[in-house]
Amino acid sequence: MSIELHNVSKSFNKRGRKIHALDDISLKIKQGEFLGLLGPNGAGKTTLTKILSTLLLPTSGEAYINDIPITEDKKIRKIISTAFGESGGRSLYYRLSIEDNLRFYATLAGVQKKEAQNRIASLLKYFDLEEKRKTLVMKLSTGMKAKVVLIRSLIPLPQVLLLDEPTLGFDAISSEKTKNLLTDFNKEFGTTILLTSHNFSEIDALTRRIILIDQGKMVEDCAPFAFKKVASQELVDVIFSVPNFQKEIFSEIIRQVAHAKIIRLVESTNYVNSYEAQIQAERYPLNETISLITVLILERGGKVFKIAPFIPSLKESFLAFLKIKEEQEKETILSIPIEMVE
Ligand SMILES: Nc1ncnc2c1ncn2[C@@H]1O[C@H](COP(=O)(O)OP(=O)(O)O)[C@@H](O)[C@H]1O
Ligand SMILES: [Mg+2]
Repeated sequence: MSIELHNVSKSFNKRGRKIHALDDISLKIKQGEFLGLLGPNGAGKTTLTKILSTLLLPTSGEAYINDIPITEDKKIRKIISTAFGESGGRSLYYRLSIEDNLRFYATLAGVQKKEAQNRIASLLKYFDLEEKRKTLVMKLSTGMKAKVVLIRSLIPLPQVLLLDEPTLGFDAISSEKTKNLLTDFNKEFGTTILLTSHNFSEIDALTRRIILIDQGKMVEDCAPFAFKKVASQELVDVIFSVPNFQKEIFSEIIRQVAHAKIIRLVESTNYVNSYEAQIQAERYPLNETISLITVLILERGGKVFKIAPFIPSLKESFLAFLKIKEEQEKETILSIPIEMVE
């Protein structure tokens, strides 16, 4: 296994209060896997990344990277590279130039001088920092510093790459470039990558497995597609036409025959005399609901131009997840008997 966690917990004492930043996390990541780490603010993502980076020790539990316990920090640091975007370049020497920072770090990481020079030159070129290479880090914008931090982490061609919001402050083009670069790294060198990001399109495009943590607990471990399905709430997108269409009648038929509810209905901008609707299945499974809706449109002499399950973006799924959770919490509070709330 490339990364392994066994019942890892981490608590902090904050003004006399105990905070469980991580609560009993177990996880196995294979060599060459590209994993996305998602979760709301304060979920414990950075804490998890720091533990794997040997910057923090867990309160309990064990973790290994390439079968080496993380307590052997010197050995671990030879295998891993990290980039923390949030710290905004605090891991760089402000009074040194970009190039000197990268050279210094490459030496520390044991990269041969010639090899280091080649990699630094090509990565600076790739991220359009070639002309700034002699500029002191303290004169750089946040986004530029984050780029240098990311480049720094790539120079040793690490076996394991731990990236915590690495593209914070990047413009769209640099984000796109980062996506391509990380894909190449993962494919060409078989680098295991753990990526935390609030850029959902990044996670969606890059990873085939996502871990969702919330209040220190792991709540989901699945493919992004599966996560979207959980959060899609059984919605159907349909584009159709029906002769003498009347909204109220149509809604009623959908409700009675398909046991489904129209969430959204607008005139189609792509088809003449047609409508686009989003319909929520309320009784039958999605596929059955789709068949029922198709049949009842065709029976009325109508046409179906498109009908498919609605697949939300990863961001929509994540927001839906947070909303469901919020509602559940409200329900829990509401379900406490009155006499207990005093
Ligand atoms: N050094 C620390 N001291 C006290 N509390 C901390 C410390 N680091 C993190 N925490 C707390 O642990 C929880 C998880 O934080 P963090 O791992 O940074 O979350 P995330 O990266 O998912 O936003 C938060 O409640 C945070 O306030
Ligand atoms: Mg964080």
